[in-house]
Amino acid sequence: MLAAFVTRTDADDPISALQVGERPAPDVPEGWARVRLKAAGLNHHDLWSLRGVGLPDERLPMILGCDGAGLDDDGNEVIVHAVISGDPVGLIPTGDETLDPRRSLLSEVHQGTLADEVIVPKANLVPKPAGLSWEEAACLPTAWLTAYRMLFTQGQVRPGQTILVQGAGGGVATALIALGRAAGVRVWVTSRDEGKRTRAVQLGADRAFESGARLPERVDAVMETVGAATWSHSVKSLKPGGAIVICGATSGAAPKNAELNRIFFLQLRVLGSTMGTREELGRLANFLLTSGVRPQIDTVLPLERAREGFEKLASGDVVGKVVFTR
Ligand SMILES: NC(=O)c1ccc[n+]([C@@H]2O[C@H](COP(=O)([O-])OP(=O)(O)OC[C@H]3O[C@@H](n4cnc5c(N)ncnc54)[C@H](OP(=O)(O)O)[C@@H]3O)[C@@H](O)[C@H]2O)c1
Repeated sequence: MLAAFVTRTDADDPISALQVGERPAPDVPEGWARVRLKAAGLNHHDLWSLRGVGLPDERLPMILGCDGAGLDDDGNEVIVHAVISGDPVGLIPTGDETLDPRRSLLSEVHQGTLADEVIVPKANLVPKPAGLSWEEAACLPTAWLTAYRMLFTQGQVRPGQTILVQGAGGGVATALIALGRAAGVRVWVTSRDEGKRTRAVQLGADRAFESGARLPERVDAVMETVGAATWSHSVKSLKPGGAIVICGATSGAAPKNAELNRIFFLQLRVLGSTMGTREELGRLANFLLTSGVRPQIDTVLPLERAREGFEKLASGDVVGKVVFTR
């Protein structure tokens, strides 16, 4: 089958490590299900994998891709939940698989979704609502699920509050804007790029500011994916008692100034967030149906042209998701 995969990682030149070609079709173990993919979303995670982050040599070759939607062997339209429990066939004891210390994301231990077929535990299949296209459904399992959990589970953001989303163009950031807006939250964003600021407002942001700009007032919560480059601004932008919810650090994990004094003096909260549960993925799909919100898709390409999609994401020149189709 056709797949986008990696056989040797490259920390400096990740795209050079990408291969698009034939891989053996998977066997289906007891308790697992095969999904014939119709669409698969690309994430920054796939670029990290090409660099070898979270993907040691002994797990190679590995098919990339966390996000996918397609047909199971019974012909059901399904979304693939990407968080694989450490005990994938059994029940998840905590009820929250994101807290399972042995959990992995598709393409970290088990082969990923940038392929004709993927196998996952049966419990990881979520019904795809008919009202969502394949491409839209394939955006949900990573970036959109992460945004949903950041806002509503970890951030406990309420209608009428104001949030700041750093780095307006990313997949998670565009999801945060759209979901926050649909939930009655006032969404402010920052971006280094004027075009992305304009697009963010078109997507539903109330106002867009240059990265690092002083805001008209402090916000209830900051949604952080950029990391080192925006951390200090995030801390300074919060009301006393406010929360930074952080799911990623694209620009680096070690900010020059961690602003520890402000964090304790203003009693700020720093909340980590990673992916979401299968239950949250189901709720997210329903929320899209009831709200009419749809994922912002930057580019759709056939999987054969995966390299172009990776290059686009790596260049940072995207607003919304890159999706591959079969
Ligand atoms: N924990 C999880 O479960 C989870 C899930 C999904 C993603 N993530 C992580 O979250 C991060 C965001 O991923 P993504 O795919 O949504 O987007 P992304 O492609 O990493 O881009 C996010 C935004 O970061 C900003 N940015 C990048 N480098 C910057 C720099 N040096 N200075 C200032 N801003 C910079 C850009 O904003 P502007 O150009 O608009 O300024 C860009 O739009 C990644 O690190 C990813 O690994 C984590």
